[in-house]
This record gives sequence, C-alpha cells and structure tokens, in this order.
Amino acid sequence: MLDAAVRRDLLEAAVWAPSAENRHAFRYSFEGMQLRLHPDPAIAQASADQHYAMWLSIGAALENIVVAASVHGLRCEIARDRLSELADIRIDFVHRDAAPDELAACIGQRHTNRRLFYRGPRLSADERAALEAALAPLGGNWRLHWFDDDETRKPLCRLLREAEAHRYANAELHRAMFAGIRFDVGWRRSAEEGLPPAALGIEPGMRGAFSLLRHWPLARALARAGLHHAIAARASAFPARRAPHLCVLASRTALESVDALLRAGRAMERLWLAATRRGLAAQPFAAAVALARAGRSALDDAARARLVRAWRELVPDAHPVMVFRFGYAAPPAVRAGRPRASALVYRHQI
Ligand SMILES: Cc1cc2nc3c(=O)[nH]c(=O)nc-3n(C[C@H](O)[C@H](O)[C@H](O)COP(=O)(O)O)c2cc1C
Repeated sequence: MLDAAVRRDLLEAAVWAPSAENRHAFRYSFEGMQLRLHPDPAIAQASADQHYAMWLSIGAALENIVVAASVHGLRCEIARDRLSELADIRIDFVHRDAAPDELAACIGQRHTNRRLFYRGPRLSADERAALEAALAPLGGNWRLHWFDDDETRKPLCRLLREAEAHRYANAELHRAMFAGIRFDVGWRRSAEEGLPPAALGIEPGMRGAFSLLRHWPLARALARAGLHHAIAARASAFPARRAPHLCVLASRTALESVDALLRAGRAMERLWLAATRRGLAAQPFAAAVALARAGRSALDDAARARLVRAWRELVPDAHPVMVFRFGYAAPPAVRAGRPRASALVYRHQI
C-alpha cells in the first residue's frame, strides 16, 4: 500500500499536467500499489481533433506520475487492456529502486505562456540536443524538428494560421473552442477548469473584441469578409513567427492506437518539462496537428487533406505530435488553475 503522502504527491503531479483546454479527461483510483486512470467515456464520442488532444493530455498526466514516482524511488509498470479504448490505465509501482528524475522539480513550474513576444537568445545546438535528450527515457521514437530559419518557418506558420482560421470560420470548431473559455470568471481571475480568459495573453485593448467573437453570427460575418485569417494570424502565426524557436515534436511511427497517443503525450510533457528546466517559456499549438487527424471531423475532406499534405512536406517520414514555440518571457500574470486533486479521485480514497 502506498502511503497517503506519496499518493497525494502523485495525484498532485498528475493534476498539474497540461491538458487541452484545461479539462481533466480522467479520474483516478488507488488499489494497494496500483493507481488507475479511468478515461472519461466522452472520449469515445469526441471528434478526431478532440480525441487526439484528450489522449495526449492523459499521456502528459501519466508522465507526470512516472516522474513524480521516481522521486519516491518508485518505478512504474504501465498497462491497459487493448481491446477496449476506454479501458483503465493501470500503473503498478513495482520497484523501490528508481533514480529520481530531475524533471520532477519542474512539474509545478511548467505552464503555458501565451505572451505575444518571446525574447532570445536562441539556444545553442548543444542546448537543443539536450532538450531532445530529455525524450530518451521514452525510447528512440521521438525527434525534434526545428523551424528556425525564415525559409522553413514560413510554411509552418502558414499551416498554423490555416488550421487556426478554421476555428473562427467553422461553426462546430468555433463552438468547441469558445466553450472551453471561462468568460464567467472575468479577465482577472483564474479558473479550476477550462481556460481563464486572463491566461490567453490577449492585449487589454483587444479583450472586448475577443469576447464578442464568441458569438457565432459575428464570427461568421467576419469569416465571410475574410477577416478570420487575420484573427488566426494573431493567435498563432504571428507569435510563432516572432519566437526565437519554433519546433515540431514528431514520432517516427504512426500515432494510431491509444497506446501510441499516450506515449506521444508523455513525450510532449517531457519536452515541456525539459524546456521549463532551462527557463524557457513555451506555448503549444495543437490545431494544425489535431485537425489533420482522420476520423469524425468538423472539417470537410478537402480542408483536412490540405493539412495532411502540408505536414508531409514539413516533416517527411515522421508524424507530427505537437508544435511548440520556445523563448524567454515573464510568466503570465494569471495561469490556469486546477481542481483539488482529491476531487478527481474515485471513491474518496484520499
Ligand atoms: C493536447 C494539448 C493541446 C493544447 N493545445 C493548445 C493550443 O493549441 N494553444 C494553446 O495556447 N495552449 C494549448 N494547450 C495548453 C493548455 O491549454 C494548457 O495546458 C491548460 O490550459 C493548462 O494550463 P497550463 O499549461 O498553464 O498549466 C494544449 C495542451 C495540451 C495538453
């Protein structure tokens, strides 16, 4: 049986993992030396892009648990029943000989920084290699592709803008995006779940206009006038273009199974923690990867095929997991909060 302090530590680490729109798509339970993650059944009905982001988020929480467990000397064995997508993820704490992972200290510091401008200096080749080396404990499947010169960065920024623009021009994507933003908490406070507007990095003068954009008839009218491209550029391509680094985490193998998506989420989190350890600010951009996913999509086939084609050219022979911009910036004044870890535990076990 794990003692209560260790259990609390593991849950706290999991809760502070990044998650798409700050939604926690699983619950936990403990049984002896086993921790189970119970995926939210809503995943099975989610559109392809949400499905992707939800599994990546669970993978990130899983990695935080593994990293936090190492500090207690615990090594994890992870298993799940492959026949059912919604099967629990079982984490057995089997040994007491694990070496502490140096990324553990960064779990609480890691956050999404959406400030418009990141400063340099750029990382040296050795520093970039050190970020990639942080992925090594997960095997040799993961690569970082850097888009740091004008020629390579331009087409990636175009792709980011194109994907983001769909969120302002497609009714279903628009609804899904704005449903995740907690306008009810105002522009100063944080929120335990969902995205507090103050964490979005929107300039004070633009906040009123952004709030209005949540109304679909207005967003649709702007999209008909072609203005969604400018809005999307501000949200993605512009900050990506100006950052010291723009980077794609990619997998050598296809990301089709739930297990592969969980591993991708773990790799994403290790990269993010390693960047935090170096003092870097980081922001992921998920839309370009998530909207290219096969499955039930709000996008029509032609729009999705364009994203897929663009990815084939940008990272040939690899499968994109997530786009990140990196640089240096002051931490945001408000970051997304979390529910109490105990609120996510089944059967009041803590
Ligand atoms: C799978 C995934 C996709 C995400 N996509 C985006 C994104 O496209 N843009 C963005 O600004 N943040 C994105 N985020 C960051 C989340 O919004 C963020 O992790 C969450 O709100 C919690 O905030 P924190 O990272 O500051 O703890 C993503 C996170 C995950 C795990």
